[in-house]
Amino acid sequence: MVNILITGGTGYIGSHTAVLLCEAGYNVHIADNFANSDPGVLNRIEQIIGKSIHFSEVDLTSSEDLDLVFKNNTFDAVIHFAGLKSVGESIKEPLKYYNNNISSTMNLLNSMHKHNVDKLVFSSSATVYGECKIVPLEETFPIGQTTNPYATSKFMQELILRDVAFASNLNVVTLRYFNPIGAHTSGLIGENPKGIPNNLCPYITQVLSGKLEMLSVFGDDYETDDGSAIRDYIHVVDLANGHLKAIEKLLQTNSSTSYNAINLGRGIGVSVLEMIKTFENATGRKVPYRVTSRRQGDLPVSYAATDKALNELDFKAERSIEQACRDSWNYQEEFNKTSASKE
Ligand code: NAD
Ligand code: UD1
Repeated sequence: MVNILITGGTGYIGSHTAVLLCEAGYNVHIADNFANSDPGVLNRIEQIIGKSIHFSEVDLTSSEDLDLVFKNNTFDAVIHFAGLKSVGESIKEPLKYYNNNISSTMNLLNSMHKHNVDKLVFSSSATVYGECKIVPLEETFPIGQTTNPYATSKFMQELILRDVAFASNLNVVTLRYFNPIGAHTSGLIGENPKGIPNNLCPYITQVLSGKLEMLSVFGDDYETDDGSAIRDYIHVVDLANGHLKAIEKLLQTNSSTSYNAINLGRGIGVSVLEMIKTFENATGRKVPYRVTSRRQGDLPVSYAATDKALNELDFKAERSIEQACRDSWNYQEEFNKTSASKE
C-alpha cells in the first residue's frame, strides 16, 4: 500500500484529489486546519469512497504539530495543497499570506527531510507567469513578474522547492493550475467559498441560485473576439487526475533529485461571455449580468501550453466546460438543499 499525505485535503482541489487517489488504491492521510474548509467535507469524501479516511487536524505553521503527524505515520509522498489563496485578502494582509504559505512549506520540507520522505507534488498557479502577454504560457517562460502577495508567495515557494530539491535529494513536481472549475458529479464536494466569491464560476452559480443578484462582467473592451477576458478553465476532476499522474511519475522515478514545473490546463481559451452562455445552456437558466470596468490586475488572455503535461505526465484534460458548468450547478443545488434543511 502506498501512503500519501495530502495537506489542505479538505479544500476544493484537495478533496477531489483525495477521492481520486483513494479510488486508485492509495492510502490517503489528510492534514488540514479548516482555515478555508468545513469538517463536514471529511464525511462527504467518505460517502463517495465508501470507507473511512485518515485525518489530522493540524496547522502547518506549527512545526511541532506537523512533525507529530510524520512521527505517527509513514508516508511515501506528499501532495501539498494547504495555503491561503485569496488575491484581494493577500493585498490587504500580505504578512498573513507570507507567514501562512511560506512557513507551511518550510515546515513541511523540514519534516519530510527529517522523516526521509523524498517525493512532493506542489500546488502552484498560472499566476506565477504574472503579466506575461504571450500565449499559450509555456513552462520555460520567465516567472515572478507577480502583481500581488498571493502570487508572490507561490513564486517564492517555487524557488524554495527548487533549491531544496537539489540540495537534499528531493523529487518535486510543481503543478501550475490554470482556472479550476466544476465539482464532483455526486454533488457532495465542490467549491464553497466563504463570503462573496471573487472567482467567476462560484459567482455565476450564486447568481443562478438567487443568492446574488447579478454578475458584473469585468470589461468588454479587451482585444478579444467578444471584448471580454479569456481564461483556461479546467474541470477540477481533471485537475485531480493530473495529481494522480504526477504521483505515479514520482513513484516510478529513479532519480535521487529532480524539480519539474508543469502546467495543468486545457490549453483552450474561453471568454467571460462564452462562460455565461455555457452556464445558460448547461442549466437552462438565464445569468443576469451587466458590464462594468476592468478589474485591476486582470490579464486580457491567459491559457496554458499543454504539451509538457502530455509528454511527461501523459495528462490530457478530458472533461468539457459544459460538463464543468453542469457539475458546478448540481453542487450548488445540493449545497442549497443541505443549507435549507439545516435552517
Ligand atoms: P482551498 O482554500 O479550498 O483549500 C486549501 C486548504 O488548505 C483549505 O482546506 C485550508 O483550510 C487549508 N489550509 C490553509 N492554510 C493551512 C495551514 N496553515 N495548515 C493546514 N491547512 C491549511 O483552495 P483550493 O482551491 O483547493 O487550492 C488548493 C491549492 O491550490 C492552494 O495552495 C491554492 O493556492 C492553489 N491554487 C488554487 C487555484 C484555484 O483557483 N482554486 C488556482 C491555482 C492554485
Ligand atoms: C484569479 C486570481 C488568480 C488566481 C485565480 C484562481 C486575480 C486578479 N487573479 O484569476 O491569482 O490564481 O483567480 O482561480 O484575482 N470575472 C468577471 N466577473 C466576476 C469574476 C470574474 O468578469 O465577478 C472575470 C475576470 O475578470 C476574469 C475571469 O472572469 O477575466 C476569471 O476570473 P477569476 O475566476 O477571478 O480568475 P482569474 O482572474 O483568472
